[in-house]
Amino acid sequence: MADKTIQPVKILYSGKAKQVYAAPDKDLVIIHYRDDATAFNGEKRGRIEDKGIINNKLSARFFRLLEEAGVPTHFVSLLNDRQMLCKNVAIIPLEVIVRNVVAGSLAKRTGQAEGVELPEPMVELTYKDDAQGDPLVTEEEAVSMGAASKEEVERIRQMALRVNEVLRPFALERKLRLIDFKLEFGRAGDGKIILADEISPDTCRFWDAETGEKLDKDRFRRDLGNVKEAYIEVWNRIGDYQPAPAV
Ligand code: TMP
Repeated sequence: MADKTIQPVKILYSGKAKQVYAAPDKDLVIIHYRDDATAFNGEKRGRIEDKGIINNKLSARFFRLLEEAGVPTHFVSLLNDRQMLCKNVAIIPLEVIVRNVVAGSLAKRTGQAEGVELPEPMVELTYKDDAQGDPLVTEEEAVSMGAASKEEVERIRQMALRVNEVLRPFALERKLRLIDFKLEFGRAGDGKIILADEISPDTCRFWDAETGEKLDKDRFRRDLGNVKEAYIEVWNRIGDYQPAPAV
């Protein structure tokens, strides 16, 4: 892709898989996607080659799709293979999980088998705090902890379900079953809530619609092998991943 790199002003935040830099325009930030992978609140660490490139471009693809569907996001433009320009937001300290199918912590917590379709999509909130292990919280608890107002929590819930309505059929057309995903939201300068963070195989569970093969970060979390191949497969189906030509 054309290189539109912008010189970062300073680093604002370094996370487990991404860094956020101030851009010369103070309303914007540069988000840099790395290949680092962690699981279980950082206890398990590794690297997935080219993951940063794939997640940057996949997130851009999903954010564009969502904007077209009327969901406001922080995405502005792609700068290069690993960086995107985004609106500067104050992140709301909630992880917003949407589930279509029983998997992961829901299976563990309730004893239901992974793969059972839920009667309707559900939204869960966790409070972003690694030291507490991102605990599950009710909407009332999220409000009482000051994460967001009651109206904001309701708006976030509606936006999360709308994201699912857009992404789920889009994935299925590409033979991917969208099992569940995690979103983060932020407040823009005008106080408006917009979708932030990333949307990628790090933050979504995708299963092959025909075989049920896991094509997401669970391959890393559960040591299933072929981790990079799974990310490439998702990109091949959703974006236009072009492997470097053999020389
Ligand atoms: P869970 O079943 O482990 O609660 O995960 C639900 C979804 O959220 C799944 O698609 C993976 C994603 N997720 C994250 O993006 N970050 C996290 O820290 C966790 C625990 C899950």
